[in-house]
Order: sequence, then C-alpha cells, then structure tokens
Amino acid sequence: MNIGLDEIDQQARQGAASGRGARPPTILLVDDSAENLKVVATLLETEGYDIRIARDGRMALERAARIMPDLILMDALMPLIDGFETCRRLKADPRLHQIPVIFLTVLNSPGDLRKAFDIGAVDYIIKPIQEPELLARVRTHLTVHRFQQDLERKVEQRTQELMVANRKLQQEMARRCRAEEHLRHIQRMEALGQLTGRISHDFNNILSVISAANDLLVKRLRHAGLCLDETEVIGNAVDRAARLIGQLRAFSRRETLHPEMINLNDIIRGMEDMLRIAGSEGIVLRISLDPDLRPVRADTAKIEQIIMNLVVNAVQAMPDGGNLTLETHTATVGRDRAATLGVEAGDYVELVVADTGIGMDEAVRRRIFEPYFTTKDPETGSGLGLSTVYGILRQSGGGVRAESEPGKGATFRVYLPVCAVAPPSA
Ligand SMILES: Nc1ncnc2c1ncn2[C@@H]1O[C@H](COP(=O)(O)OP(=O)(O)O)[C@@H](O)[C@H]1O
Ligand SMILES: [Mg+2]
Repeated sequence: MNIGLDEIDQQARQGAASGRGARPPTILLVDDSAENLKVVATLLETEGYDIRIARDGRMALERAARIMPDLILMDALMPLIDGFETCRRLKADPRLHQIPVIFLTVLNSPGDLRKAFDIGAVDYIIKPIQEPELLARVRTHLTVHRFQQDLERKVEQRTQELMVANRKLQQEMARRCRAEEHLRHIQRMEALGQLTGRISHDFNNILSVISAANDLLVKRLRHAGLCLDETEVIGNAVDRAARLIGQLRAFSRRETLHPEMINLNDIIRGMEDMLRIAGSEGIVLRISLDPDLRPVRADTAKIEQIIMNLVVNAVQAMPDGGNLTLETHTATVGRDRAATLGVEAGDYVELVVADTGIGMDEAVRRRIFEPYFTTKDPETGSGLGLSTVYGILRQSGGGVRAESEPGKGATFRVYLPVCAVAPPSA
C-alpha cells in the first residue's frame, strides 16, 4: 500500500484535466432543474470531468447502476423521490453503496444536514454554489474515493494471494503428513522385519538340531530293526515349523532368492490353469497382459507364490462370487508414489490383482502387510500371506500397495523394477 494521497490526487487531476491516459472521473449530476444541471455540468466539464445527468431519483438510480460513476452530486429537493430517499436507496444497494454522494441544496437547516450525513452522504454544499468550493470538494472526494477503491482492490488482491498461499500450504502440510505416515509405516515394517528375522534365524538353528537329531534317531532305530511312529510326528512338525520359518524369513527379507530375467506375462500364462481352478466358484477370471511388457529380474518361484497369495485372498474375499482381474503394465512410478512404496522413482512392471469382494476399511488396510495380521478365523487365515508378498517384493527392489473400501473390492498393485538389459533373443 505504498500509493499516497498525493499520487492519487495527481492521477485524479491528470485524468480530469487532460483526458489522456487514465480515464477522467465520471460524475453523475442529479437535479430536476435543467438550468441548474447546465450550470454545474458546464463548470465541471471545463475541468475535464466526464459528466452524466439524471432528472429525477428513479433515473439517478437506474443510471448509477449502469455507468457506475465515481461521484454523485445530488439535489435534495426533487419531485416523486427526493434526493434523501434516492441517496438512501443508493446506500442500500450493495453494488452502489460505495459511490460517494454530495448534496447540492438550498436546504440549510442543521436538521437537513444531519439527515444527509445520517443516510450516508459524504458532503453537503449549500446553494448558491461557490465555484472554488464546489471544485475543491469534488476533487477531494474523488481523491478519497479513488484511494478507497485502490485500497479495496489491493486488499482483495492480497486476500486472494493469501488464500492461494494458504491452499498451497495446506496441500503441502497434507502431503507432508502423508509422507510422514508412510515413513512411520515403513519404519514399523522395518522393525518388525528385524524382529521376525532374528526370531526365525534362532528358531531355524534350533530346528536344524531337532531335525538332524530326528534323522539320526530314525537311522539308529532302523539299524536296530525298529520303527517308531513318533519320529514321523516329529518329522512332520519340523516340516511345518520350517515352512512357517520360511514365511517369516521371507517377510524379513532373509530368503535366498534366485533372481533371473523373466517376463511376468509368461509366469501368469503358466499359472492360468491353476488360477482358473482357484477361481472356479462363481468367480469370473479376466486376464489382461500388456504385450509390450518389459522384463524384470526376480525369482520365478517366489513371484508365483506372490500371485497365488494375492489370488487366494481375492477368492476368499468373494464368498458369493465376483470378478477377479489380473493385469500387467509397464508403469512410471513418480516421486510421490515411490515414497509411499519405499522404492526409487522410475520404470516398473506393475501387476494388478483386483477383486470385487468384501473389501476392507482403512484401519485394516494399514496393517495387512504385518506378519500375523489377519481378520480371518484361525482355520482360514494365518496372517502370513501378505507379509510374505511384502518381504519378497522389498527384497527384489519392488513394492506393493492396496486400495480398497468396505464392500467395494480390493486392488493390489505389485511393482517390480524394470530390468535395464534386454534378455538375449533365443
Ligand atoms: N482381497 C482382499 N480383500 C479384502 N481383504 C483382504 C484381501 N486381501 C487381504 N485382505 C485382508 O488382509 C488380511 C491379511 O491377509 P494375509 O496376510 O493374506 O493373511 P490371511 O489371508 O491369512 O488373513 C486378511 O485377513 C484380510 O483382512
Ligand atoms: Mg492370505
């Protein structure tokens, strides 16, 4: 707000006097006497103002709304609607109430003056008009009015700027909130990974001892021509425990992977029969494979396991049937999505496994990749399917995310980094 009164006054004068550059101020004269109108109009026109006239209150209101003058000079005594009433109506109209009104009148009682100012006039000139007085007051009120308008425009502009800045700030805060939330989630999964990694490692060692001892026992018994059912029970339990440990190792990224250059489409085609059987119960399977899919470096058996785990969940989420869709694409993962996945931004092969099942709410969705998190009863769910998916993908340089709403199905998106080198042609 650096513009001072002098500057605006100068602008007003320049506009008024020269008619060049800035538009000359427009003044609406309201008077029922043609003679009065002529005298005042001539005087003001000589000063360079743009003069418009109205012969009565009704016409004044109508013209003011149309031309939006910078100032109104109003006679108080007029037939039909007098000047006071006209002024009152102007001030009641939100579009017009800011136009300054100066009364030009023969009425000179203190009551009339008070009435004029009470209804919102800015000034009161008593006839007969003194030329210097009229010109000085007109110029002063035009200057003040311009200054006010300028101020309002600037306030409005600044308000807009602040609103935009505020919106940006809120978006940035929301983005940061989301990023922090993802970071916390990734850190939590990292901590869980370290814990399960440690536990699975220790138990694996103990299990190796039990397994080796059991094998030895079986051998010795066989030597002695004996056989005990209990050794088989131990053997089975060891196998079950080993599978469980394998899943925990997968989550904690301690699996031994055998990565090779593969095309995800080939893997899905190879599993198609199995997928159709898995989804036979009233489930319509749709497979859409991108023919230009880029290769990835991954462990085929583990990728098959990932697909099976996702498909089994999808089937379990559709007890009354539905649609199961598998799609592949090559996708560019931008900065934001990469941050939520905990991967580098870049090109990825995307596998989408979508169902139209029961879906899940946000509280469940946040925890589905944690080991032992399940909403199913112990016979159906172990809570280790998605943690295995998560661990294998993270170990392979990729990631996974789920989108879902209760009753609206679930979509799992698996990302594996595109392999830079093309496979040698056969
Ligand atoms: N397609 C799906 N639709 C709805 N919920 C799902 C889906 N897939 C996984 N979930 C939720 O994630 C949880 C964890 O899945 P998972 O790790 O495979 O364990 P489990 O299937 O043994 O419960 C499930 O219990 C279920 O609540
Ligand atoms: Mg499961």
